[in-house]
Amino acid sequence: MQHNYWKLFRTSTFRLSALYLAVFILSVGAILAYIYWNTAGLLERQTDETIRAEVQGLADQYRIRGLAGVLDTVRRRSSDDSGSIYLLTTPEGVRVAGNLVTVPDEIAVENSGWTEFAFNVKTSTGTEPHRARVYYTELPGDNVLVVGRDIEDMRQFATIIRNTLITGTLIALVLGIGGGLLTSRNFLRRVDAITDASRSIMQGDLSGRMPVKGTSDELDRLAQSLNQMLDQIERLMRGMQEVSSNVAHDLRTPLTRIKARAESALRSGADGDFKAALEQTIDESDRLLQTFSALLSIAKTESGQPREGLQPVDAAVILNEVAELYAPFAEDQGGSLKTAIAGELNVRANRQLLAQAITNLVDNALKYGETPATGAPEILVTGNIEGDNAVIAVSDRGRGIAPQDREHVLERFVRLDESRSKPGNGLGLSLVAGVMKLHGGRVVLEDNEPGLRVKLILPRHPSV
Ligand SMILES: Nc1ncnc2c1ncn2[C@@H]1O[C@H](COP(=O)(O)OP(=O)(O)OP(=O)(O)O)[C@@H](O)[C@H]1O
Ligand SMILES: [Mg+2]
Repeated sequence: MQHNYWKLFRTSTFRLSALYLAVFILSVGAILAYIYWNTAGLLERQTDETIRAEVQGLADQYRIRGLAGVLDTVRRRSSDDSGSIYLLTTPEGVRVAGNLVTVPDEIAVENSGWTEFAFNVKTSTGTEPHRARVYYTELPGDNVLVVGRDIEDMRQFATIIRNTLITGTLIALVLGIGGGLLTSRNFLRRVDAITDASRSIMQGDLSGRMPVKGTSDELDRLAQSLNQMLDQIERLMRGMQEVSSNVAHDLRTPLTRIKARAESALRSGADGDFKAALEQTIDESDRLLQTFSALLSIAKTESGQPREGLQPVDAAVILNEVAELYAPFAEDQGGSLKTAIAGELNVRANRQLLAQAITNLVDNALKYGETPATGAPEILVTGNIEGDNAVIAVSDRGRGIAPQDREHVLERFVRLDESRSKPGNGLGLSLVAGVMKLHGGRVVLEDNEPGLRVKLILPRHPSV
């Protein structure tokens, strides 16, 4: 428990609230002190001022009219109930006139000066102790004149202000410390939750995520970006696992085939069989190498930082190059490969990967796009600007891909049954999808009525 409190006190939130609290109390204290000085202090100063003026007046009186004049004024003023205090004594200290019944001991220590003392005031229910502040002075004839005021009200007022000051400060202190502890505890709880979550993730639970409260405060934002990072890591890990299991699975068959052929050639021992087996081994190895490099390219596009290392490229140039290269193949089969490219298609791209993606599409159209009536492929390659995107499309008039298979064929090693007679690994469209992801674009498979149209949608790059 004690340890927990220590943890609380050591949080930055608590320290910050403590600092705020200190500043707050200092300013409240300063304000109250100012108020005190301006009210109670002012009253005191004014009282002293009044008393001094009265003493001055009586002294003048004495000069003009002598003791009799002072006596007269003191008697007159003593009778009204204004809270003023007067006393005139003989040099021996015997009361002559005034509204103080007894001569207080505090007087006549010196010739003149200020003093305060307690005295009793008559009320309807009896007497009440009040406090007086007086100035006393010896008149020329050694009579002592005391002039002052009942300062009980003022004292009570000052006490109220002082009490308010102390209570206010105490309340602020309690609330501040309580609030500081509360917010720190909340903060600490959430930090603990994040720590717990990261610990469980580190122990291998990659699907775990940081708790997000939904308040979008700084901790939430931190948790969210950590979660995004974890999403990315999880995706990469899954991709890696997939690739390795795919590799293991799909390379097994050709390797087994190579081994079987070599064994049967060895068994037969005929020169012709050796030659044929070696040739087939070389073919098979070529295909294996192709598969490998395709898989590596896909893995690279999928793990690559989107939009990094891309350069301004005119995709129209690439389209024309690929079309020029492949048109003869289409014509050899009695078909055609036409282009309709509307000017420049400026995008940010990795030139080689984009060319590879377009080549894969044209290759598919050549392989699977033969028009049923003629048996030859009719391919159309288009490039257009649509809004903020450059759209590249490769269309054929073949049998197309059924809507429910269009997602599926983008996955690695997926080949539709009707295509099994043609060579291929089922990696071409996966690479296209990977390349589009890397470029921040997307692949859309559409019905060309009849046939297939594959669209590559890339964000335009205006500055080229
Ligand atoms: N133009 C098309 N018309 C009809 N089906 C297509 C077309 N393009 C692709 N497909 C189908 O999608 C599957 C996946 O295509 P993908 O390009 O990924 O692999 P592949 O062509 O079989 O092999 P690879 O491209 O690795 O040599 C193909 O096997 C085929 O069934
Ligand atoms: Mg292909």
